[in-house]
Amino acid sequence: MRPYIICHMLSSIDGRIDGAVLNKVIAGGEYESTGAKLKGDAWVCGRTTMQLHFAEKRPFVSRTRRPAGSQSVYVAQRSNSYAVSIDTTGKLRWSSSDIDGDHLICVVGERAPEDYLTFLRERGISYIVTGKSSVDLASATTLLAKRFRIKRLLLEGGGNINGGFLQARLVDEVSLLLAPGIDGRRNVPTVFDGMDPSIKRAIRLELISVEKQKGGTLWIRYRVA
Ligand SMILES: NC(=O)c1ccc[n+]([C@@H]2O[C@H](COP(=O)([O-])OP(=O)(O)OC[C@H]3O[C@@H](n4cnc5c(N)ncnc54)[C@H](OP(=O)(O)O)[C@@H]3O)[C@@H](O)[C@H]2O)c1
Repeated sequence: MRPYIICHMLSSIDGRIDGAVLNKVIAGGEYESTGAKLKGDAWVCGRTTMQLHFAEKRPFVSRTRRPAGSQSVYVAQRSNSYAVSIDTTGKLRWSSSDIDGDHLICVVGERAPEDYLTFLRERGISYIVTGKSSVDLASATTLLAKRFRIKRLLLEGGGNINGGFLQARLVDEVSLLLAPGIDGRRNVPTVFDGMDPSIKRAIRLELISVEKQKGGTLWIRYRVA
């Protein structure tokens, strides 16, 4: 029991995902409007993306450094839509319990400090603690379904968290907005990053649909075989 998971991303034709660069070649709001058509009841991002675009600039600093310990779930409130962050050691500092109206759920690992959980509870933020050294993504997604009733989860990057979900076989569909542009710079994140280098085999996808958007962007949907 876990949500249906769609990885929704915007990329250049060379697979790079720097939004600031890509926004110069696509219409404003195109990523968000296609994402809305996928009808997710939650979206999830990795710690780096959350840090860059949504969390406070200064990180959380633990006073006690005592680890949170075992698996737990705190439901601060129920909502029709959720924003989920995957932040292994509880670095992200939040000023609000929602992002643009989506109730925030922070997923951390058991190494995250206990006082980080207190910080989240005090702000009315929900959380899931799961995974000893790193976040257990399979268990986290099961708990998102069971405890928050999330049925359709949009995985919205960046590349490393997408790679983590894909490697854990948690991606059902890829929804790619292919912008009519080339980035070409070294060391720019790509749609899927950080996967096991010993697996020298592409993950097979089955084409669901291709739509030509205004301005030459392609919206391509694939099912993970
Ligand atoms: N074009 C688009 O559609 C789009 C969408 C989103 C983001 N972006 C861009 O993507 C870039 C960031 O991508 P990124 O790949 O560097 O970072 P990311 O995927 O946003 O975050 C990666 C971080 O997530 C945490 N994490 C927790 N569990 C993980 C797991 N099992 N596997 C992988 N990561 C895990 C790790 O940090 P901890 O160890 O600290 O937990 C890891 O360093 C930014 O430039 C952002 O603007 C583009």
